[in-house]
Amino acid sequence: MASSTSGPKKVLSRFRQVVGLLLPHSKSTPPPVSSTDDDKVTTDDHQVSTDDHKVSTDEKVKSGGEDINWDNVGFGLTPTDFMFLMKCPVGDKYSEGHLVPYGNLEISPSSSVLNYGQGLFEGMKVYRREDDRIMIFRPEENARRMQMGAERLLMQAPTTEQFIDAVKKTALANERWVPPHGTGTLYLRPLLMGSGAVLGIGPAPECTFLIFASPIRNSYKSGIDAFNLSIETKLHRASPGGTGGIKSITNYAPVFESVKRAKAAGFDDVLFLDGETGKHIEEASSCNVFMLKGNVISTPTILGTILPGITRKSILEIAQDCGYEVEEGRIPVEDVLAADEVFCTGTAVVVTSVASITYQEQRVEYKTGENTVCHELRTALTGIQTGLVEDKKGWTVHLN
Ligand SMILES: Cc1ncc(COP(=O)(O)O)c(C=O)c1O
Repeated sequence: MASSTSGPKKVLSRFRQVVGLLLPHSKSTPPPVSSTDDDKVTTDDHQVSTDDHKVSTDEKVKSGGEDINWDNVGFGLTPTDFMFLMKCPVGDKYSEGHLVPYGNLEISPSSSVLNYGQGLFEGMKVYRREDDRIMIFRPEENARRMQMGAERLLMQAPTTEQFIDAVKKTALANERWVPPHGTGTLYLRPLLMGSGAVLGIGPAPECTFLIFASPIRNSYKSGIDAFNLSIETKLHRASPGGTGGIKSITNYAPVFESVKRAKAAGFDDVLFLDGETGKHIEEASSCNVFMLKGNVISTPTILGTILPGITRKSILEIAQDCGYEVEEGRIPVEDVLAADEVFCTGTAVVVTSVASITYQEQRVEYKTGENTVCHELRTALTGIQTGLVEDKKGWTVHLN
């Protein structure tokens, strides 16, 4: 492999020569997402292969992002330079993982992820501080959540140490894609797939762990953004004994229809109700929900049908620190309709006010803006995440 003095061009040409890969972009504005044969990471018959395409950490392309046109970065996918791949025969240990150029994968048509949905994902962000250093937030929580999901789906998850190490390597290899402080973040998407081939319904004999990255812009403009939600009364997201409490890939396509219908009617997202009674709120398509009444902040209890959000967990703690009474319980629709404030939490939405909820044609509006508890909690959380406020909880991990 190239020495530490190798430049990006040398790395690029080496990959083109050796494995016929094209990096999807060089050091300029990213191209649209494409899927050509040239982009793929080659594989053997049964698995996603990583062996031939390692990038030593010395070969990382770093340029501080001066050449990136941040105006072109939005909320969609902007591919970055490298992704991380690591694989594991089930029942064994993960072999050492590697950074490879971002590109398509080749995977067995009979892999369990493609046939049976044996897959999990995570979502996390890399934040740039004012002093230009970069950090991540509570990565051990993402590692643990993936391990919980892997247990449920009979997959082998990386250990917490392996997970965090992979996250660090991916973040550092793509450091130039971490947007300037306060403008956005580098979103990381860890994926765990049953990549081995199976024919009969059953777990894959091999798992692949992968992390790719994409910069995203901040959406929230100093407390004024807010969601308009509708309560979904036809479809359910999760049911008792199902997989609603883990980040299974199979939880997401089934909500597309509800969200599409809601968006067509002018809403931003839907709130799902519990599958048993249809009387209690659970969560939105990809974020948790909270309500405020007086001095009490409540959120639905995690009972296996709601994703245990890391932002949710952090906000529960921050709210208590700020002097609010905090409750977890079953929240009837009527209670949320009578709330003073409602807000959503998640890695993507951070903490975002709900401006209105519509339920069976009835629309209820809530307080939004800078003078809200939502804004207070959001400011406290993002202060820690971006290094503006001292992290007394040990939640942040510095990467450089
Ligand atoms: C269904 C669902 N609920 C809640 C969340 C929020 O979780 P977190 O705060 O860990 O991002 C997410 C996002 O990951 C999600 O997909």
